[in-house]
Amino acid sequence: MNELTPKKIVRELDKYIIGQKKAKVAVAIALRNRWRRQQVKGDIQQEIMPNNIILIGPTGVGKTEIARRLSRLVNAPFIKVEASKFTEVGYVGRDVESMIRELMNIALSEVRTEMTGEVQALAKIKARNRTIDILYPRQPVVPNETEEEIRTKKERYERNREKMEKLFDAGELNDREVEISISPPRPSHIEIFSPTGMENIDLQIGEMMAGFFPTKKSDRKKKVKVSEAYKNILEEESNRLVKKDKVISEAKNRVEEDGIIFLDEIDKIVGNENRTGADVSRSGVQRDLLPIVEGSNVPTKYGIIDTSHILFIAAGAFSASKPSDLIPELQGRFPIREELSSLSKDDLKKILVYPKSSLTKQYTAMFASENVKLNFDDDSIEEIARYAAKANEKMEDIGARRLHTIMNALLEKFLFEMPDKKIKEVTISKSFVIKKLDKIIKDEDLSKYIL
Ligand SMILES: Nc1ncnc2c1ncn2[C@@H]1O[C@H](COP(=O)(O)OP(=O)(O)OP(=O)(O)O)[C@@H](O)[C@H]1O
Ligand SMILES: [Mg+2]
Repeated sequence: MNELTPKKIVRELDKYIIGQKKAKVAVAIALRNRWRRQQVKGDIQQEIMPNNIILIGPTGVGKTEIARRLSRLVNAPFIKVEASKFTEVGYVGRDVESMIRELMNIALSEVRTEMTGEVQALAKIKARNRTIDILYPRQPVVPNETEEEIRTKKERYERNREKMEKLFDAGELNDREVEISISPPRPSHIEIFSPTGMENIDLQIGEMMAGFFPTKKSDRKKKVKVSEAYKNILEEESNRLVKKDKVISEAKNRVEEDGIIFLDEIDKIVGNENRTGADVSRSGVQRDLLPIVEGSNVPTKYGIIDTSHILFIAAGAFSASKPSDLIPELQGRFPIREELSSLSKDDLKKILVYPKSSLTKQYTAMFASENVKLNFDDDSIEEIARYAAKANEKMEDIGARRLHTIMNALLEKFLFEMPDKKIKEVTISKSFVIKKLDKIIKDEDLSKYIL
């Protein structure tokens, strides 16, 4: 995070997202401000609140894409939640607080992975020793042995053990079979969607279930190959070395200090004036969100999480509604608004080529899987973008998603014929694009179905 300056964040996002500079800048500043807050000393640190952001813009212009890229960029617990999911049938009653618990789970697994990595070297030494102990157990002391006998026995043991270790390290014992005791499976995690959102129910059930499994190690002996035994033991040792309470406290700290929640589709929880049925539950969701966004204590089975400094980034197309239709209290909790612009022909052209995993790169890779080389002439790209822009203009503007439909219509023939028809190389030229797309675009009905 230290090196993740706002400019650097924008530069990273630029690798994937064309244009939308203002949104990128807002997100970059909000991220950096969190780091800045953490450098601040004294009481004032608690007073600095995150710059919650709403990204507004038509469909398919990069809102969700920004979130996806951001999540890989920041080394912080991050989740993307569709606000609409809280109004869905079946989710009713699944409270909004569950996103904090989900964030905590993500942080836990990140921290656990990290900490497991840190103890790997030690765990490997221990696992190696234990595996060799099984292969060549230490000899028990026999009564009435003389000192001399004990010493020679020990020396012999050490000598042989050394040989054993060498063989083990060379992997020559891997296929030999040994008997190990498998530790009982941890009681499986049973998730229960309880109407009250009391997720500690699943904890209790987990503990109850534990009673059904044999817990004595000797109950579960198993013959396995040495390589597998080593893997098992290594896992056991890693788990033992990672301290559970340290994992929890570190994860909790990261959630509270660095956590980011991307609330997508926030426009879907705008209700109408005439409040009936689903609309009631929509504004209900908005009201449920208020305390969490503002900062409140959310109980989880790992303790209480304070949400005050979690950064919220919301996004919505607001095609049928306006941000001002959100209840005012919620609007107030997202002080920063950025509009994303709809995509021009030139943007679309860049989107086809520039991003690290642009559509043309994706198709080239897919053709390559069939051993076909796919090329695009420069002016063919221009032409594809022109048709995409035209289709967006003629029908709904679905932004860059239009490129997906256009590309599919353009390449469908090859996608179907490979690999049966032996082709080595396909070059998409401007005239090919015109030939393929002109008819579709001109025919109103055809374009409705195909593009
Ligand atoms: N500015 C852009 N730069 C690069 N790719 C983009 C851009 N905008 C959209 N795309 C591509 O278009 C697809 C759809 O974009 P995205 O999911 O971000 O839409 P959105 O703005 O979230 O729309 P919606 O409001 O419908 O959710 C993505 O797969 C993305 O690759
Ligand atoms: Mg989206």
